[in-house]
Amino acid sequence: MNKTDNFPPARILGIETSCDETAAAIVENGRAMLSNVISTQIDLHAKYGGVFPEVASRQHILTIYAVIDQALQQAHMNLGDVDAVAVTRGPGLAGSLVVGVNTAKGICLGKNLPLLGINHLEGHIYSAWVYPSDSQEVPREPKFPLLALLVSGGHTELNLIEDHLHYKRLGATTDDAAGEAFDKVARLLKLTYPGGPSIQKAAENGDPTAYKFPRAKMEGTWNFSFSGLKTAVLREVRQIEESGRALPTENLAASFQAAVVDALFTKTISAAHEYHVKEIIVAGGVSANKALRSSFTEKKEFIVHIPNLSLCTDNAAMIASAGYYHFVNGQKDSLDMDVLPTWPLS
Ligand code: KG4
Ligand code: ZN
Repeated sequence: MNKTDNFPPARILGIETSCDETAAAIVENGRAMLSNVISTQIDLHAKYGGVFPEVASRQHILTIYAVIDQALQQAHMNLGDVDAVAVTRGPGLAGSLVVGVNTAKGICLGKNLPLLGINHLEGHIYSAWVYPSDSQEVPREPKFPLLALLVSGGHTELNLIEDHLHYKRLGATTDDAAGEAFDKVARLLKLTYPGGPSIQKAAENGDPTAYKFPRAKMEGTWNFSFSGLKTAVLREVRQIEESGRALPTENLAASFQAAVVDALFTKTISAAHEYHVKEIIVAGGVSANKALRSSFTEKKEFIVHIPNLSLCTDNAAMIASAGYYHFVNGQKDSLDMDVLPTWPLS
């Protein structure tokens, strides 16, 4: 692809419904966010300790129209001002994806607009390009080649990105995703869903060196593994409970968090050295984690792009941003496009 400066202007309506957030946003030229509306279902799912798929898809149906309407209003636009509609096609929950994709198709059919089916993981990576349109300063655009650590509830992977839309997966988790490990360990520690923010909060008052939890090295690969760590926490919790002592939740949370951050950080920095990249993107829900953010931002030898907190977890601005680069690359999907609940990025 050519330099971004030469790309034509376009305003993309992004729609995201892959899991438990119904989201819509307008992004101009791939970066300037004119609006970003997210209706979260967290409270609905909290009582199940995780996302209940049927509840999620029905809730998307109830809210998607209002969410899109609000995104247009906040951007002072109507559908006639939109150049294309980008929607998450996968990976995600089939019943949830269908709601967003069918809504996007309806808009494209009614307004004769191009439809762009976008990979959710690619969206997370493009969240590093997005900034609020009223920012005082335009943040530096990520420069290729770069390394992207993608850490979410469903995925943990390292990608080498040579140019827009060109991904080479170097490694991934062989078992649990980092976010999934946070969610499962939070349940063990009787903390609320989603686990990431609860563990982070508990960890604030804990000692990260209180327990020496394992860091799976996965030598000779760029892969990660978190199931051994989760089992180690489980064993410790059982022992403490059997002894009748009160659970030292804060120390357990802090020690677990330190192990996850250490594993993610160490491997990403080694890969950055190995592949001679100067810029790193850390994206996905777990990139909201304060300890993870600070270990990367303290590493001054690399330029590290971590999205604003509001863009770390699922949103539609990231889908609109990725959609822009596909749009200028000539993508136009057909109105019989199906959802892809499993869809690797590379
Ligand atoms: O990207 P995301 O919103 O959804 C997926 O695509 O999966 O990521 C959600 C995941 C959840 O597992 C949640 O526990 C985790 O991101 N998460 C965090 C934090 N905030 C969200 N993990 C650690 N620390 C956080 N502050
Ligand atoms: Zn996500």
